[in-house]
Amino acid sequence: MWHFRLWDVQDVAVFLSIALYMCHLAGAISIRSPQRSLTRSVQEDVDFSVDITCSGTPTIQWTFMSGLVSRSIGSWKPGVYTNITADYSSRVQAHGNGSMGLSDLRLQDAGFYVVTVTEETGNSKDFGFVLKVNEVLYEDLQYLVVTALALAFLVGLLMLSMWLLDKGYRKFLAWRQRKQMPENDATELQHLDGTAP
Ligand SMILES: *[C@@H]1O[C@H](CO)[C@@H](O)[C@H](O)[C@H]1NC(C)=O
Ligand SMILES: *[C@@H]1O[C@H](CO)[C@@H](O)[C@H](O)[C@H]1NC(C)=O
Repeated sequence: MWHFRLWDVQDVAVFLSIALYMCHLAGAISIRSPQRSLTRSVQEDVDFSVDITCSGTPTIQWTFMSGLVSRSIGSWKPGVYTNITADYSSRVQAHGNGSMGLSDLRLQDAGFYVVTVTEETGNSKDFGFVLKVNEVLYEDLQYLVVTALALAFLVGLLMLSMWLLDKGYRKFLAWRQRKQMPENDATELQHLDGTAP
């Protein structure tokens, strides 16, 4: 009875030490980030910033997930190679510290971004981000309406001042005509007088 118990304790101890060893292995990689939930607008840029602690040079793999879709964005080993999927190659910046920049955001970019850090021993760890992408339609519309109103006001002001100028000019012309009329009549009369005989 006691004998068996002793073995049990030994088994448990072995188990515990293996578990601790595994925990130690799993704990060897640490991934931290100041912000895991990000919100951006269409056409803006986003930085998925991670602070990775691990042994050796890790392999970084970023994956995009939205609904049932799971797409590889790319993977890189700092200083060794960088392999970005063709769809993302123009928009992704692969940083040596494992962080990833994604520029010119689209609505379809909204979803989950998972970074998988793999050590040379094969030990790996995941870390996820949530990205929300907002449309800028509303702000654009507001901006457009304000611009249109300002333009309409300017056009109105311009038309009013042109009308006033035109009216003033006509008045001036009429006034000048009235002033010149008697002189004209006089010269015409003189002219007529001179040629008549
Ligand atoms: C990672 O590197 C990028 C570019 O060098 C930098 O902007 C970012 O702040 C870094 N992130 C961390 C967590 O150090
Ligand atoms: C780059 O990644 C793609 C898919 O993730 C893979 O098929 C391809 O072999 C990789 N290329 C290199 C040079 O590692």
